[in-house]
Amino acid sequence: MSGKMWGGRFSADPSKIMTEINGSLAFDRRLGKQDVRGSIAHCEMLVERGIIGKEDGAAIKQGLIRIEQELATGTFPFKPALEDIHMNVEQHLTDLIGAAGGRLHTARSRNDQVATDFRMWVRSAIENIDDELRRLQSELIDKAEHNADIIMPGFTHMQVGQPVTFGHHLLAYVEMLGRDRSRFMDARKRLNECPLGAGAMSGTSFPIDRHATAAKLDFDRPMANSMDAVSDRDFALEFLAAAAILAVHLSRLAEEMVIWVSPPFGFITFSDAFTTGSSMMPQKRNPDAAELVRAKSGRIIGALMGLLTVMKALPLTYSKDMQEDKEAAFGVFDTLELCIAAMLGMVKDMKPNPVRMKECAKSGFSTATDFADWVTQRLNIPFREAHHITGRAVKIAEGKGCDLSQLTAADLVQADSRLTTEVLSVLTVEAAVASRTSFGGTAPENVRAQVNTARERFLTAGAR
Ligand code: ARG
Repeated sequence: MSGKMWGGRFSADPSKIMTEINGSLAFDRRLGKQDVRGSIAHCEMLVERGIIGKEDGAAIKQGLIRIEQELATGTFPFKPALEDIHMNVEQHLTDLIGAAGGRLHTARSRNDQVATDFRMWVRSAIENIDDELRRLQSELIDKAEHNADIIMPGFTHMQVGQPVTFGHHLLAYVEMLGRDRSRFMDARKRLNECPLGAGAMSGTSFPIDRHATAAKLDFDRPMANSMDAVSDRDFALEFLAAAAILAVHLSRLAEEMVIWVSPPFGFITFSDAFTTGSSMMPQKRNPDAAELVRAKSGRIIGALMGLLTVMKALPLTYSKDMQEDKEAAFGVFDTLELCIAAMLGMVKDMKPNPVRMKECAKSGFSTATDFADWVTQRLNIPFREAHHITGRAVKIAEGKGCDLSQLTAADLVQADSRLTTEVLSVLTVEAAVASRTSFGGTAPENVRAQVNTARERFLTAGAR
């Protein structure tokens, strides 16, 4: 007879390759803690409902507590032949306490068990990421506060558009990360229903109390449909989707850092702590960490695509395909933790070069919009007409190889007879940013106010 849990029906062991492709212990051992927790809740409920005896229940619970310690201290005897973490825990429990261990699986299947464990794991992953993102936001907000007055070019199409403040630019990412956090929290709300007690798929004839186990495991309620409970992994997909969007946000900041630190820009520098040298070119200082944060978005997006593809067209209910859900989520979580930590380190480390930033902010006729705004107001003409007048002025300046602010009275009259040198006063980058006081605009005074509201919205206790 086979030594497997389903030994009754089988007479021979599986082939080596069957064991290899079937096994998930190499990765689902990360669910050990959740598996024990779920089993303790299930065991307590079985005793409360009189489904198993008090003594057996006590022995099972004690054994599970011991297993929890073994898992925590690294002494648990993992056996890959036992396929997955669930069977490892159950078999070892029976080794520890004897036949009573076999009662734990009453009114339960690995299908509801794994769905429960994995939901608990994703829930705690989301909570960890939320904490880490809050720390990153805090760092960005501090940096924004210190750089509220630093002027840099704002780009569209990667062309100098209008001057902005560095603080304002950094606060843009604080907003993105805030939405990322709320996307994760939305996913958490929906995933927080308990599959346990759904059994293999149809429920159970034992008089279980699913509301009790759900409450013990901090779920909001039991899942309403036993078939849905064992067969959907939309919660993992939502986690991966939120992760993919976050990774895209991180990749954009990483990319900007790569650009800013590139010598032709020279907007920021990184210390030795966040750069590497080149093996051949002695002068090089490369922003590898930023490049890798940029690149790792690839595997995170890939994980989402991978699991979407696994789940697509799977008939109800459980299929072994779904065992492929875990590595995607585990890998994404590890990658994100690393990327968020690296990004936090780089935000802290980067030193802006205000002289270079301002120099560049002045280039490319960046205050042409201010010129046009002034003309619109002063001459009381439609903005579209002012846009044309300004375009002519830019053309004259371009022809002379000078800046808008260096145009003479005669140049201005050539652009439009009504223009005077008065317009030149609005053309400094300082005046331009200071004038952007509309809600959400880049003015230093706005940035300082935004820093305060961002701290309130994102960093106070319970703010998500
Ligand atoms: N290792 C499996 C998984 O991760 C556990 C559930 C197996 N259930 C089954 N009926 N074979 O999905």
